[in-house]
Amino acid sequence: MWKVLKIQDDCEILGVMSDLLEVKGLKVQFGSSKDPVCAVDGVSFSVPDGSTFALVGESGCGKSVTALSLARLVPEPAGSYAAGSIMFNGENVLEMSNSRLRELRGREIAYVFQDPSTALNPVFRVGAQIMEAIQLHRKDVSARDETIRLMTLVGLPDPAERMKAYPHELSGGMQQRVMIAMALACSPKLLVADEPTTALDVTIQAQILELLSSLQKKLNMSVLLITHNLGLVADVAHTVNVMYAGRIVESGQVRDVLAAPAHPYTRGLLDAVPKLSGIDGSDVRLEGIDGFVPNPAELPPGCKFEPRCKYAQDKCREVEPELECRISNAEYRMEREGLVGSEGGSTTNVQQPTSSNQEEGRLVRCHYPLGGSDA
Ligand SMILES: Nc1ncnc2c1ncn2[C@@H]1O[C@H](COP(=O)(O)OP(=O)(O)OP(=O)(O)O)[C@@H](O)[C@H]1O
Ligand code: SF4
Ligand SMILES: [Mg+2]
Repeated sequence: MWKVLKIQDDCEILGVMSDLLEVKGLKVQFGSSKDPVCAVDGVSFSVPDGSTFALVGESGCGKSVTALSLARLVPEPAGSYAAGSIMFNGENVLEMSNSRLRELRGREIAYVFQDPSTALNPVFRVGAQIMEAIQLHRKDVSARDETIRLMTLVGLPDPAERMKAYPHELSGGMQQRVMIAMALACSPKLLVADEPTTALDVTIQAQILELLSSLQKKLNMSVLLITHNLGLVADVAHTVNVMYAGRIVESGQVRDVLAAPAHPYTRGLLDAVPKLSGIDGSDVRLEGIDGFVPNPAELPPGCKFEPRCKYAQDKCREVEPELECRISNAEYRMEREGLVGSEGGSTTNVQQPTSSNQEEGRLVRCHYPLGGSDA
């Protein structure tokens, strides 16, 4: 039985308040001011110091626009920040001067993007590209020594020799390690990894995720991991926010969300993660989510997931649900005892939450969350 612990207003979420990043009611729109299209609508979350936070959702849900907003990188005036705040270490990014933003970008918030082969400059040796990132921000170290240190840190073998390579002489996984080394050049407090493994093959994906996870612990930085594959966050992230149509629809500890997703969309994303076989060795049919993410200019009036949701009822078509804390994790786990590890491959190796986060509630934007009754 579900119960509402605390109704959230548009701009607040439950959870550990972050010293590092706190996004409140962020609204980003594109197009003319007369007829704007809202790509991100009222998104709120916080990233605690030294933790990995995942943002998950299908293509077009607003993950990258949210991520780019953190360093005010959405191109303006094509895009505009219509509402909200992004507090980074106590400063509102949306109110920073251009010179402060230049300091912030790269030095305090660094990005790793999807395809390293397009992000690296093909005509410069990789060592020179890492050295340039260091020279841009730091005068206190030898750029060459620091490049070798960073290449070693990200697991590139024989760095003194490897520095001389051009990007095309490295594999995709090595190129992504170079990109991560560049991102680490200024010891950022927050590393945003936007689909960092999508362009890589499966075995290399695992290596890069493991690298990000070990760097996060070693350097005690925060990592925002963006992916469309909910299965990938299991071993890496502490907290997960699921996005749909520019909104957060479910938020909670990775362990709890993967073990018992409460939003039908999260359930659909989990069912879409490929599995080799069921627990009894039988073949498992891969379920997709019917339909497509709606165009932000043509959203349905009630729940934005309603046209694709097999649990939809009349209320869903009329009233958009709020993001609410439905139940504490402790109660939820008691109800769900025995379910962990029984719902397919993606739920077995989930990361343990930190003890300070154990009692947080689960936030869900749904009138009829799975496992519960009508709120
Ligand atoms: N520069 C832009 N101009 C107009 N619309 C944009 C722009 N950038 C993003 N959008 C729109 O904002 C919405 C969210 O895009 P976003 O890139 O954040 O999605 P995403 O979740 O990162 O998807 P993907 O997984 O494909 O990267 C989309 O509908 C997209 O078309
Ligand atoms: S509010 Fe209704 S349509 Fe939307 S996800 Fe929940 S059950 Fe489905
Ligand atoms: Mg994207």
